[in-house]
Amino acid sequence: MVLSQNNRYREIWELLILVVTVYASIEIPLRIAFPPANDRLRYFSDILFTILFSIDIVVNFFATYREKGKEIFSRKRIALNYLRGWFWFDLLAAFPFFLFSDESWVEITTFMRALRLIKMGRVLKVTKIAELSKHWQTHHMLNPSLLRIVFFLFIISLVTHWISCGWILLRPKEEGLSNADAYSLALYWAITTLTTVGYGDITPKTLWERYYTIAVMIVGVGSFGYIIGNVASFLANMDIVKANYRKKLEEITAFLNYRAIPPALQKQVQDYYEYLWESRLGNDEKTLLEEIPEPLRTDIAMHMRKDLIKKVSFFQKGEESLLRDIVLSLSPRVYLPNTYIIRKGDPGTFMFIISTGTVEVISEDEQSVYATLGEGSFVGEMALVLDQPRTASVVTRTYCDVYILEKSDLDIVLLRHPRFASHLREMVAERQRNHG
Ligand code: CMP
Repeated sequence: MVLSQNNRYREIWELLILVVTVYASIEIPLRIAFPPANDRLRYFSDILFTILFSIDIVVNFFATYREKGKEIFSRKRIALNYLRGWFWFDLLAAFPFFLFSDESWVEITTFMRALRLIKMGRVLKVTKIAELSKHWQTHHMLNPSLLRIVFFLFIISLVTHWISCGWILLRPKEEGLSNADAYSLALYWAITTLTTVGYGDITPKTLWERYYTIAVMIVGVGSFGYIIGNVASFLANMDIVKANYRKKLEEITAFLNYRAIPPALQKQVQDYYEYLWESRLGNDEKTLLEEIPEPLRTDIAMHMRKDLIKKVSFFQKGEESLLRDIVLSLSPRVYLPNTYIIRKGDPGTFMFIISTGTVEVISEDEQSVYATLGEGSFVGEMALVLDQPRTASVVTRTYCDVYILEKSDLDIVLLRHPRFASHLREMVAERQRNHG
C-alpha cells in the first residue's frame, strides 16, 4: 500500500505538518532567544513535535514521489529516495529533546532544537504551497503573481524573525528590559539593517556582532532587490488580460477615428468589445491552447463547451466520440442584436450552434418570419447538407454567443458519424417542409 499524491488524507496530513513546522519555526527561535523558566508550554509543544514528526517519518515511507514528471509507486524506490534525502533531517526534527532538558543538557539540546528549523527547508521548497496555490488558482481565480508575493513576504518575515532572535542571543540583555522590549529592539535593528536604512542608533559592539551585522546586510541587499523586482512585475502583470483588452480597444478606437467611421458605428464596435469582455470570451482560445497536445486540448475543449453540449439535445444522448470530434472545430463568435449572420442566396461555408441568445429566420424581403431559434439550435446547416445557396436570411434579435463549424469540418464529422448525419438530414427535411 502506498499513498498517492492525490490521496486526500495525505494532503490533509501534509498540510498539518506544514502548519506545525511553521509554528515550530516561529516558536523555537523565540525559546532559544529567551530561555523559559521551565514552562509547561515548552514540554507540551516538544512532545507534540516529536509525535507528529515521528508519524510523518512513517508516512513518508509510504508516500509516492515524482521523478521526471512520473509518480513513483515502488515501495523500495520510495524508501531509497527518502533515505537519500529528507529522512535524516526529519529524524533530527523528531528527536525527543524534551527528555534531555536537565541543566547539563540544556546547551546541547538548545542547539539541537535549532536543527528542527531545517524542516522549514520543506516550506522553502515551496512544493506544498505551490500545490495548494494551484488549487486556489483554479478554484478561486487567484492571481499567481500575487500568490508569489504573499509567499515571499511570508518567508521574508520568518527570516527577519530568525535574524532578530539571533541578535538577541548575541547581545547581552540589559538590566530591567522586558522580553517584549528586547524583541522589539532586535526586530527594529533587523529591519533597519535588512532594508539598508541603517539609522545607526543600534550598532554592533563586539567582534561577533559585527560579523553578524555584515552577514545580515548582505542578505538584506539581495532579498530586498528581489522583493522590489517582484512587486514591480506584480503591478505590471496584475491583470494582463484586462490590460491587453484595453490596449486593443484603444488601438481600434484610434483606427476608427483615423478612418472617420461614423460615431454610431463606432459605438457598435465598442458595444461588441464590451460584451466580449463581460462574457469572458475575450481570451483568444485558439492561440492560447495551440501548444497543448491534441487529446488534452480536446479534454479542455469538452470542459469549456460543456454548457453548450448540455443545451443540444442530440449531443446529450451520448456518443462521446462525436463530441470529441466536434468540440475542437467549434470556434466562438459573438454577434450584436439585429445583425445579419446569413443572407439568403449567399453560398454556405459554415453552420453554427447557438449558445445564448435568439435569432430569427426570415425571408429575403424581411416580411415573413419562418422560425425563431434559441439556445442549442443548429442554424445554417441546410446550405451545407443540400449543397445549395442559403435558403433564408438569419438575423440576431439579442446578443448572441454562437459556435461556428466550418463546412470542411462538418463534412468530416458527417462521414465519421452516420447517426449524426441522418439526424441532421431529418432536421433539414423538416425545415424544408415548413418552408412550404
Ligand atoms: P441555410 O439554408 O444554410 O441558411 C438559412 C438557415 O435558416 C437554414 O440553413 C436553416 O438553418 C435555417 N432555416 C431555414 N428555414 C428554416 C425553418 N423553416 N425552420 C427553422 N430553421 C430554418
